[in-house]
Order: sequence, then C-alpha cells, then structure tokens
Amino acid sequence: MASALISRQLALSLQKNLWLSPAGCRYVSKAAPKTQMEFEYDGPSMKTSVPGPRSQELTKQLGEIQNVGAVNFFCNYEESRGNYLVDVDGNRMLDIYTQISSIPIGYNHPALLKLMTDPNNLSAFVNRPALGILPPENFPDKLNESLLSVAPSGMSRVQTMACGSCSNENAYKAMFIWYRNKERGHNTASEEDLSSCMINKSPGCPDLSILSFMGGFHGRTIGALATTHSKAIHKLDVPSFDWPIAPFPRLQYPLEEFTKENAQEEARCLEEVEDLIVKWRQKGMPVAGIVVEPIQAEGGDNHASSNFFKSLRNIASKQGCAFHVDEVQTGGGATGKFWAHEHWGMDDPADIVSFSKKLQTGGYYHKTELQADKAYRIFNTWMGDPSKNLFLSEVLNVIRRESLLEEVTRSGKALLNGLYDLQTRYPSILSRARGQGTFCAIDICDDATRNSLLLKARDKGVLLGGCGDRSIRFRPALVFKEYHVHIFLNVFNDVLAQHK
Ligand SMILES: Cc1ncc(COP(=O)(O)O)c(C=O)c1O
Repeated sequence: MASALISRQLALSLQKNLWLSPAGCRYVSKAAPKTQMEFEYDGPSMKTSVPGPRSQELTKQLGEIQNVGAVNFFCNYEESRGNYLVDVDGNRMLDIYTQISSIPIGYNHPALLKLMTDPNNLSAFVNRPALGILPPENFPDKLNESLLSVAPSGMSRVQTMACGSCSNENAYKAMFIWYRNKERGHNTASEEDLSSCMINKSPGCPDLSILSFMGGFHGRTIGALATTHSKAIHKLDVPSFDWPIAPFPRLQYPLEEFTKENAQEEARCLEEVEDLIVKWRQKGMPVAGIVVEPIQAEGGDNHASSNFFKSLRNIASKQGCAFHVDEVQTGGGATGKFWAHEHWGMDDPADIVSFSKKLQTGGYYHKTELQADKAYRIFNTWMGDPSKNLFLSEVLNVIRRESLLEEVTRSGKALLNGLYDLQTRYPSILSRARGQGTFCAIDICDDATRNSLLLKARDKGVLLGGCGDRSIRFRPALVFKEYHVHIFLNVFNDVLAQHK
C-alpha cells in the first residue's frame, strides 16, 4: 500500500483542481504565493453533502455493533493527503481539526510512508512488546532520538503510555507516590499501609487530592475524569473524588487591550488556588499536585498569561505540591513553540509534563524526584508502543528540516488576523478571536449557530471542530500554510455571509 501511495503522489502533484474562486464566492482573502507540498491536493472538492450516502450506509452498519452518536462520517485514509481528508463519498475537505488535533504533519506524509517500507523497522510494527518487562534493544536509543530530544527544560526522564488519559492517570499516581514518600520521610510502607490499601482505606490509600481548574479537560478515565470539568456528559453517573476545583481566569480578548482587567481576574483565581490548598489541607486531604493545561482546549480555548502560570508554579512549589502541565493538546508545535509552556519563559516550568496526540505516543516527562521508587507501581502491559517512537523521530526530523514551527507562527498570524477581520465584518455572530500559533479559536453568538456554521463549512469543504459552549477551535496540522489559511477564510466568509 505504501509504495502504491508514494507513486500516486507523483501523479497527484500534476493534477490541478481549480476551485479557489467558485461562482458567487465573496472573495475576502488573497491567496498567498503557493509553496505547495508536492504530495498534496490543490483544494477542497465536494461531491455530496456530508455525511454522503456511503457514510450513512456505513454508519447504519456500525450502529448494529456500537454507539455511533459521535461518528461524523467515514474516511478514505488512503486517498487523504497533507491537509486534506477524503471521505468515502469522494469528498475532499481541508482538515482544520486533524483527528482532534492529533495529526502532526498531515495525512500520508511521504517521510512516514518511507519509514514503513524500511525493512529495519518491520519488527517494530509487527511485534508490539510488553515494554515494561521486555523492551527491544534499540529502545534507549530511540527514546533519546525521539522524546528526549524535545524534553522540556529541567527534565531528562520520560515514561511512555498509550493515550492522553492514561498518561495523566499515571502522572497523578506518580505525584501521589512522591507526596506520600515525602510525608513518610522514607519509601518503606508499613504493615498497616500494605493491609489497608487492599481494602481501599487509609493510610495505605491516603486522603490526598489533585487541584484542577473549572473548564479543564484531562481525560475520561476515573482519576483523570475527577480533574475534568469541561462538559457534564463526560462525567455524568461516574463516581468521583472530592478534590478542589479552582476557577480558571476568564480573560477578555484581544489580550493586549485588557491587560489591567485580565491581571485582576488572574489575581482573583490565584488567590482562590491558595485558599483551596489551605482548605483541603485543613479537611485532611492535602493537595499533592496541581494540574493545568497551558490553554484550556476542550473547555473552550481559554488562555492565561505567562505571569499567571509563573505564579501558579510558584504557589505549587511554596505549598509543596507537584506541578503538572498537561500538554496533551497543546504539545507538539501548534502554538509556534514545541511546548506551549515554553511561551512562559521559565527554566523550571513544571515537575510533570504529559503529552499524547501529535507526539504519536502518550506519556509524561518528569523530574527525577517523581520517578516511582519500585517496579510495577507505574506499569501496564504495553506502556506505549515503540513503533510510535519511530514515527515521532521522523515527525521531528520533518519539523526541523521544514522549519515547521516558524511556518506555524506565520500561518497562525494570518489565521488570527483573518479571524479579527471576520469578527469586524460579522459582529453579531463572531467575537473573542484568540490564539497562539495556529492554536486559535473564535466564539459564535450561540451554540445552535456554532453547530450550524460547522456543518455548513463542512459541506463547503472545510472541516472544523467545536469546543466549550459556543467556540470554534482551529487545530490544523503543522503543514498548514498561509495559502491554506486563505482557502479557509474565503470559505468561512461565504458561510457567514449566507448565514440567516
Ligand atoms: C488536554 C488534554 N488532556 C487529556 C486528554 C485525553 O487524551 P485521550 O483522549 O488521548 O485520552 C485530552 C484529549 O483531548 C486533552 O485535550
């Protein structure tokens, strides 16, 4: 399949799909000069509305087997390329959502296809090991080449995991283990610890907590879910912990115009964080760790300033809590830096940084002190997948070779400026345009209008995602260039102009 795809790319680079100025298009955005990726299509091409008949048929079939409430449409991944996702009805859409922000360098990137054809890599794809007990010979080298080559400042240890939720889940365990050993003053559990933990009682299962933020999203497994506060549907009917939840700053945008108001709002939230830590200590459930996203994503793309995060990090250190930065969605380059926390300009930004999505593998970096002290305390069968580290190494090569972080900064500027412009044109529909790199969002007047705009844009060949109550989030791949921004702006302007 890989070789067939590679040779088809050649044919495709010759194919021209004229679509940019369809009849009636209200042209607002000039296409930037193209430096088109060889293997990519020229633009969207729509044959049916989405989902088309084939997608509907397949949804019915799958519905006999599982819940399909969230299925948008079925995809043809073989035909998808670069920034374009092709569906089973032959519709080709500019993908600005990228599998919930998890495709780093577009679909079927030639460098990744080539990796698949290298015989030296075959055993990594075929034999998935139980990494915690039987790692392959090249595993330390591959970790150095991939994850450790982009380790956050101050961190030289990394634990791989399968997905974002289980990365956070295990990071929380690491924080609890660290905290208890700190409380004990040593790492030897008592007989009472060992017997009480078997029946879920303290002191073996201690009354400790993790402080999280309203609007945050850290996953759907039980521990991670206790720190998720974005939508009720994620949490409904699942028992949870009585852990402290602090308000996350609700800033006004553009940030530069509201520095004073926003600083006050951030100070209010920080004060609340300190109060909650004291309150929970008094309740007998000390806060072992604070978890926060650099930009609250699923909860509505809520930003906070570098000062806010610096102060939060200081509060954590002062109060003896571990500081966990969840970069599952922000990590991997979309903000214009590899890690969003790099924008804070700190040498010691965190004790734990978790990741997944664009990094291809889940996991978390941590300070040496947060290394679990005994085997099997942080453990599962797969603990990641070495084949994903091969992909990540190659993704990082492409990012470096093609200077994709600079590209993201450039396209991000064009995107945000375009959103500001549309916001001025359609003030009754759009507000609060915001973003860092291409990690942008805009608010729509209400939830129903947001959902309707998303569907209309999709039928015109642009795939976007929602977040929060009424926001649209932009999560393109790192190969999303300025001319893709202009394609999007033209389509979105059309959709807005036709919106009744
Ligand atoms: C910030 C953040 N943390 C954790 C998760 C959970 O990751 P996963 O869906 O891979 O379990 C997500 C997923 O969207 C996320 O955005």
